[in-house]
Amino acid sequence: MDTRKREAAAAPERAAHDPDTPQALVDFMSSGWLEAPITVAHPKQTESFAERRAQLARAFPDAVLVVPAGEEQVRSNDTNYRSRSSSDFAYLVGPGEAGSTLVLEPAGGSHQSVLFVPAHNRGDKAFFADRVHGELWVGRHRGVDESQLFFGVDRCRPMDQTQSYLDELRSRGATIRNVDDDAELATYLAEMRLIKDDYEIAELRTCAEITKRGFEDIIRILPRARSEREVEAAFWSRARIEASDVGYSTIAASGEHACTLHWIRNHGELRQGDLLLVDAGVEAESLYTSDVTRTLPINGRFSSEQRTVYDLVFEAQRAAFGEVKPGSDFLAPHRAAMRVLAQGLIDLGILKCSLDEALDPQNQYYRRYTLHGTSHMLGIDVHDCAKARTENYRYGKLKAGMVLTVEPGLYFQPDDATVPDRFRGIGVRIEDDAVVTSAGCDNLTAILPSAAGAVEMWIAQIQSR
Ligand code: GLY
Ligand code: MN
Ligand code: MN
Repeated sequence: MDTRKREAAAAPERAAHDPDTPQALVDFMSSGWLEAPITVAHPKQTESFAERRAQLARAFPDAVLVVPAGEEQVRSNDTNYRSRSSSDFAYLVGPGEAGSTLVLEPAGGSHQSVLFVPAHNRGDKAFFADRVHGELWVGRHRGVDESQLFFGVDRCRPMDQTQSYLDELRSRGATIRNVDDDAELATYLAEMRLIKDDYEIAELRTCAEITKRGFEDIIRILPRARSEREVEAAFWSRARIEASDVGYSTIAASGEHACTLHWIRNHGELRQGDLLLVDAGVEAESLYTSDVTRTLPINGRFSSEQRTVYDLVFEAQRAAFGEVKPGSDFLAPHRAAMRVLAQGLIDLGILKCSLDEALDPQNQYYRRYTLHGTSHMLGIDVHDCAKARTENYRYGKLKAGMVLTVEPGLYFQPDDATVPDRFRGIGVRIEDDAVVTSAGCDNLTAILPSAAGAVEMWIAQIQSR
C-alpha cells in the first residue's frame, strides 16, 4: 500500500472541514484535568461467560482463538452507525466496544482470556482531535483496567496492541483461528448458542415484556395514526427507552403491504378497515432480542374475511405449538402448521387439489400462500445460530433450552388470480417466541394476546384507558 492510500484508509478521524491542531494546543489539552475515575460494576453473569469460554477452549485445545467485537461501520462519508458488538463476542464476554477483541490463548493446560479494548486517550491528541475514538467526541471508554474488572477476564490490554500481540504469538508458532474467517470455529460457537441457559431465557423474557408494551403503544395510537411510519416510531421509542434498540428493522405493513414478507419501507398509509401486520422486537443491552408478529385490525374489529384468514393462521400456529417439545424434529412444528394451512386453503377453494397432492414434496403448492418457514432459532441474533450445521438445526431435533419462533402466515397477494377477490390483499402472520422445556414449551410472548377475539378485546381495552 502506498503512503497516500494508507493515509486515506486510516483517516476517518480527519475530514476536510477539520481544523489543524498546533502542538501548543495538544500540550494544553493534555493536562489540567481532574481525576474522574470510572466505576464499573461486575456484571452478574460473568461466571457463565467464563464457563462458555472454557467450553470453547476445550474444543480447540491447541489454538489461539480470536473473537473480534467488530469495527465501526460507516454510515456515510465520515459518519458511522452506532456500533453493536458482534454476537459471538457478546456471547463470550458480554457486549463490547467497537475495536475490541477477545483472545483465548492456551496457557498451562487451559486457555487464558485476554481482552483488547479501547484505552482512555486523555493526554493524547486523539482525545480531542479524533472523531471516532476521542473521548471528548464519543464519551469516555471503559478503559483497560476498568474493563478487566468489568468483564472478569484474565487480562486486558489496549486495542492498539492487538496485532502485535497476535504477531508475537504467531512468530512463536501458535495456530491462530479467527471466528471471522474460520468456519469450524464459527460453527462450533453457533451450535453452543443453540441451547440457552437461565440467564439467556430471563433476558428473552424481559424482551418479551418490553415488546408487549411496544405493541400497546402502537395500539394506543391506532385511532389517530395515519402512517406505517408512526407505527414504527412508536415501537422504536419503547425499544430505545426500555431496552437498547430494535432487534431488527420493524415491519409495519398495512393492507396489502402485509403480503410483502420483509416490508420495512413503512411508507404506507393506515386505512380503517385494513389489517396492520407488525413484526417487531426489542434488543436488550445484553443484545438478546424478541421477534414478535401480531396482525391487528386497524379499526379494532376483524372483518369476516380477515377473521377467516386470521383464524386459520391461529389454528396452524396452535398445531405447530403442539410439536414444540424435546425430541421433536425441528421441522415438526412447520409440518403441523403447513398441514393445517393446506387443508384450510383447500376448504376455501383456493387450492384445488387433495391434501396429499398439496403437501407432496414434489409439489408444495401451499407455499404460494405460506411463503416462509415456521421457525428459526432466536437469541442474541434474531436469526440465531445461523452457522450451525443443518443436521443440528433444520434437520435436527428440538432440545430443552432451545428458543425458537413459531410464526406461520398466509399471504394473499393483491394480484393473485388464484385467490377469490374478497381475500386478495390480506396478509396475516402470528409470531411467538418459545423456549423448549423438558415438558414441552413455554411461550415467552403469550403475554401478547393472539386469538382473534382476544386481540379485539386487547385493542378495546388499551384504547379505552
Ligand atoms: N422478523 C423476521 C422474522 O420474523 O424472521
Ligand atoms: Mn421470526
Ligand atoms: Mn419476525
